[in-house]
Amino acid sequence: MSGRVTKAVIPAAGLGTRFLPATKATPKEMLPVVDKPAIQYVVEEAVRAGLDDVLMVTGRNKAPLEDHFDRHYELEDKLEGDEGKRELLERIRESTDLATIHYVRQKDPRGLGHAVLCAAQHVGEEPFAVLLGDDLIDERDPLLARMIEVRQQHGGCVIALMQVPREQIELYGCAAVEPTADADVLRVTGMVEKPARGQAPSDYAMIGRYVLSPAIFDVLRDTAPGRGGEIQLTDAIQTLTDRPGDGGPVHGVVFRGRRYDTGDKLDYLRSIVQVAADRADIGPEFRDWLGKYVAKRLAEGDPIEPIQP
Ligand code: G1P
Repeated sequence: MSGRVTKAVIPAAGLGTRFLPATKATPKEMLPVVDKPAIQYVVEEAVRAGLDDVLMVTGRNKAPLEDHFDRHYELEDKLEGDEGKRELLERIRESTDLATIHYVRQKDPRGLGHAVLCAAQHVGEEPFAVLLGDDLIDERDPLLARMIEVRQQHGGCVIALMQVPREQIELYGCAAVEPTADADVLRVTGMVEKPARGQAPSDYAMIGRYVLSPAIFDVLRDTAPGRGGEIQLTDAIQTLTDRPGDGGPVHGVVFRGRRYDTGDKLDYLRSIVQVAADRADIGPEFRDWLGKYVAKRLAEGDPIEPIQP
């Protein structure tokens, strides 16, 4: 099907109110997950899927984002002169050399759909990917590459779906789906942004990865504010479900891998613990400590519930 996907759009204009006061002067995308800012994991994921043209849709107070992906001459100079700091130097350069990053400002906070619309000029007439910074996808479970493959096969748009417990579906966009010949691919027949309890068409939640047809931009221009008074990306994609060959159809790739949500405080903490526990360098020591810590809390009579897998 037409058009190779080469561009990634990363909306990063949110105010990060759930993390105040940490986000008063620091963009929430810069909060570290162990020793890298969350946004770097997302850019790395885009690059792994072959997308090294990245557009960040930013807002006020986002200068640290640009600095992070830029060269830091003084620091590099200092580290270069020190043999023992070679590895650190490499790590600092990683974020600079990762991708070609462009920036555009979303001047008014009018929602995710509006943020994506700010990418229209940069993207042009090509299909493109959108990656939301609150969702981190483990590099061992490549999702975006599979979505791009499905887009090549079917055209239109491809969203990422994950089954969640029914009581959580109201936190997500939700898709009505039909099976296809591929077990991990569903045909999307309808979508609703954060359905009220009991109104969800399925337990398939949309997670923050999209491969979109450029037709989405015209639809977004005509999309009225939806849930929360914001222009919702979900509503615009829903319009394309009825337009095969003209921006549609819409398919969903079912993701069953590891996803780390950094969108609120508790999820962010869980993400850090999981990422740290899996790290080759600090993981063994951290797991050892964590095991002992939990055992101690249990011994003290703390009612720690077993977690859902
Ligand atoms: C956004 C989307 C929603 C999606 C979610 C995934 O919502 O609007 O459809 O399910 O991301 O993380 P947000 O969490 O930004 O409110």
